[in-house]
Amino acid sequence: MSSAEKQRVVVLGVSGGIACYKAVELVRILVRTGFKVQIIMTRGAMEFVTPLTFQTLSGNPVATETFNLTQESEIGHINLADAADLFVIAPATANVIGKISNGIADDLLTTVLMATKAPVLIVPAMNVHMYDNPILQENLRKLRRIGYHTMEPAEGFLACGYEGKGRLPDAEKIAEEIERLLKKKDLSTERVLITAGPNREPLDPVRYISNRSSGKMGYALVRAALRRGADVTLVTGPTALEPPIGARVVAVTTAAEMREAVLREYPNCTAVIMAAAVADYRPVMAAEKKIKRSHGAVELRLEPNPDILKELGQSKDGKWLVGFAAETEDLTANAQKKLREKNLDMVIANNVAEEGSGFDGDTNIATIVDRTGAIRSLPLMSKDDLADRVFDHYLALKSRR
Ligand code: C5P
Repeated sequence: MSSAEKQRVVVLGVSGGIACYKAVELVRILVRTGFKVQIIMTRGAMEFVTPLTFQTLSGNPVATETFNLTQESEIGHINLADAADLFVIAPATANVIGKISNGIADDLLTTVLMATKAPVLIVPAMNVHMYDNPILQENLRKLRRIGYHTMEPAEGFLACGYEGKGRLPDAEKIAEEIERLLKKKDLSTERVLITAGPNREPLDPVRYISNRSSGKMGYALVRAALRRGADVTLVTGPTALEPPIGARVVAVTTAAEMREAVLREYPNCTAVIMAAAVADYRPVMAAEKKIKRSHGAVELRLEPNPDILKELGQSKDGKWLVGFAAETEDLTANAQKKLREKNLDMVIANNVAEEGSGFDGDTNIATIVDRTGAIRSLPLMSKDDLADRVFDHYLALKSRR
């Protein structure tokens, strides 16, 4: 960090779980990376680790009490709220998550959080059954809906003796997520159109042909683009995912509807990323009434859907086009072929047959090819991380033009 750059401030709220000791490691990493770390501890947290430990490592006084006059004059709860570039709660207990999601501010941590305008990252850690509890899950969903960022707990042996999901992720992982959330707004001049999810092509009023796309990759791209300051329009097929806050969302079902929505939005955007698994075929005829069961085989006649991305590639008009290629063999060669044939700038190819890659999971293993001929093979990573890599590559390529 150059001395001219303002030191970024992470306000770290520590609530009372056994994972508090890992928050100590997190502070060390953040301080080493150059962050100013201001810590707020709940009463519960102080049962596990003393404020002195955090104070020594962060080099800053630790805030613990709302009504302590010395703390209030030295630190000040509104000052803390204003100073934060990012507000992180790690570990976040079920109790603190419950309070926040219901607007309760009955201690210093929840009060400062209520007053901050900084982005918030919640990192839950608790017993596996507590984490699975539908009340807790509903609270987390509500927080995500409001725009809070959350991390999934890691799996493994829990301090309570159970095994499962509930461990605080490793401090390095939390630090990476913090870095990611604080990334520069380097897409603020971009208007990005992103498609996601599958299509459904009706056979009759109750049946359809579809594919296994979950929409997770496309939604991760939307989150990354929004975080980095882009104006985002999401054209989405049917998915089980929460629509990301801040994007304009156009919901469609069939490939034809997706094409129509994309063509309508196309003139207003600077880039299109087609992460949707567009249905290649549709039934020639969708029956008006439910097709009755009968003996013997039934024949389905299918006709091809238009290739939306190829159509866009024929009238680029300075726009950037990014495609996805789900392959089961000859990854790079097929991706390059697609890039050429559809007149694209980048293709992100993944081998859907490989463990940890492709449909429905939270991770991907991808290779990015671009129109300069560059090939970048990426290791297994979360779809959120891959989304950032796609935009990093996009910006690097664009700056070379
Ligand atoms: O040709 P293929 O289906 O493998 O190409 C994949 C890329 O093309 C994806 O980005 C996908 O969203 C897009 N596509 C499309 N219209 C289709 C089929 C695929 O836009 N009919």
